[in-house]
Amino acid sequence: MEIKGKAAVIVGGASGMAKATAEMLVREGGRVSILDLPTSKGEEVAKQLGGTFHPCDVTDFAGTEAALAAACDDLGALHVVCNTAGGGIVMRTLSKKGPHPLEDFQRVIDLNLVATFNVARLAAARMNENDADEGGERGVIINTASIAAFEGQIGQIAYTAAKAGIAGMCLTMARDLGSLGIRVMAIAPSLFLTGLTSMVPEEMAAPLTAGAAFPKRMGKPEEYARVAQAIIETPMLNGSTIRLDGGQRFQPK
Ligand SMILES: NC(=O)c1ccc[n+]([C@@H]2O[C@H](COP(=O)([O-])OP(=O)(O)OC[C@H]3O[C@@H](n4cnc5c(N)ncnc54)[C@H](O)[C@@H]3O)[C@@H](O)[C@H]2O)c1
Repeated sequence: MEIKGKAAVIVGGASGMAKATAEMLVREGGRVSILDLPTSKGEEVAKQLGGTFHPCDVTDFAGTEAALAAACDDLGALHVVCNTAGGGIVMRTLSKKGPHPLEDFQRVIDLNLVATFNVARLAAARMNENDADEGGERGVIINTASIAAFEGQIGQIAYTAAKAGIAGMCLTMARDLGSLGIRVMAIAPSLFLTGLTSMVPEEMAAPLTAGAAFPKRMGKPEEYARVAQAIIETPMLNGSTIRLDGGQRFQPK
């Protein structure tokens, strides 16, 4: 799908990889609307990009539906959605404090997996209203997993379950939506310099990426955006999760 003239909603777009993706889309001639927490820099980022901002917490599923609808109304259509809001906790299945509280597990699943599915299902309905382009395409959905989906570390059980769900639903969703000309991909980053992680000092970051093949460094948000661009522009990319990790495989700790 050509980006020029297309409308995109970027969830979590006030910061990090999603912000870089929003910047890429505007640079390539697209229009963006940002969904992010009311406390985020969404308003400021949207203004810089000539787009709109609709505050929401993605774990408020009804509120997100309203924010997405308002964003699509602003844009007049929806061709691309990028789901990047998410995060994890550190808690073992069983620790000295007892079994992992279910409510904490559920919270991480809601934030990463259910919220991603919520936006994807609603975005697909909106994309289905588009006229197909000459290649038969109506939309592209990009979700954000993590390499923890495949090699979760000790204490990442809830996060791993959520991100593995995002990676796992990719092909099924692509098959569900294929007849409509809507593609679905996920990107699974290793450690990236975003939000909180950008404050990790060099000497602490080095051991975290020592296991990578090359380059042995944290990823840059622009590298995520470059992959997002390739996904949007390459119709044959569909139904899979791209690892973006310099060949890194997480060790147990
Ligand atoms: N940074 C990494 O090392 C790394 C590695 C693998 C996967 N990821 C995944 O990437 C995504 C985070 O992207 P980032 O690293 O660019 O982080 P970031 O902190 O820079 O940006 C995340 C954005 O999501 C927003 N957000 C968080 N919770 C939200 C909520 N409940 N509702 C609405 N918006 C919310 C934040 O306000 C923020 O603007 C997450 O899904 C994370 O699991 C990050």
